[in-house]
Amino acid sequence: MNIGMSTPDYSHLSSKDFHDVYEPAEDTFLLLDALEKDVEHLHSSRPCICVEIGPGSGIVITFLAQLLKSMAFFLGVDTNPKAATSTRRTADQNGVHVEAVTSDLLSALQPRLEGSIDVLIFNPPYVVTPSEEVGSSSIASSWAGGKDGREVLDRLLPQVSKLLSPKGSFYLLVIKENKPDDIRRLLAKQNLTSQVLLERRAGPENLSVMKFYRDPTLCS
Ligand SMILES: C[S@@+](CC[C@H](N)C(=O)[O-])C[C@H]1O[C@@H](n2cnc3c(N)ncnc32)[C@H](O)[C@@H]1O
Repeated sequence: MNIGMSTPDYSHLSSKDFHDVYEPAEDTFLLLDALEKDVEHLHSSRPCICVEIGPGSGIVITFLAQLLKSMAFFLGVDTNPKAATSTRRTADQNGVHVEAVTSDLLSALQPRLEGSIDVLIFNPPYVVTPSEEVGSSSIASSWAGGKDGREVLDRLLPQVSKLLSPKGSFYLLVIKENKPDDIRRLLAKQNLTSQVLLERRAGPENLSVMKFYRDPTLCS
């Protein structure tokens, strides 16, 4: 369902900020559209804890906070400290509260978050690149995904079911080169069902937003 939400204001971020922080692009906007499309599910599941890994500018987690208009806790974790700062600034600019911390995936926070994340979002560094480019200290770490564009994502995938609450959903942005069917099979082994929420071609990239969740009809 499209409810005509506008994109969060990020006019406070300049080209100087985008020298160090991922600038919203087609992938970002597809993720916003997918969250808006899934608004009925998001509202009805009454999420308490919402986490975005790699928020960059912060517009996705800010959009979710606006969409839910709830008392949920919103957290962004990014390896790039400047992305954490931009995320806080974007939330402030749009009148919502988002906590933002610098962290490699969920690292030290994981034990406290296990089994409690109701909404987990990740638009990972997904571009196929040489492995040496993954995790650099430059802006390239925003997109450099190494082999199959999966090297960062593959460190998160084994943890997804453990992190999600019983009603939790995981929203993931992928491109065709990331082998979405393989991701689907890996998460099916954790008893997570998948759905493609939206797909779009942007230049050379075939982007999709996938959603993973526990299907209550399959629970014993
Ligand atoms: C493709 S950008 C997406 C940014 C934003 N979510 C968007 O959609 O515009 C990927 C983001 O993931 C962050 N990132 C890369 N590796 C990470 C890691 N190991 N842990 C947390 N964040 C990471 C990058 O710094 C960057 O902000």
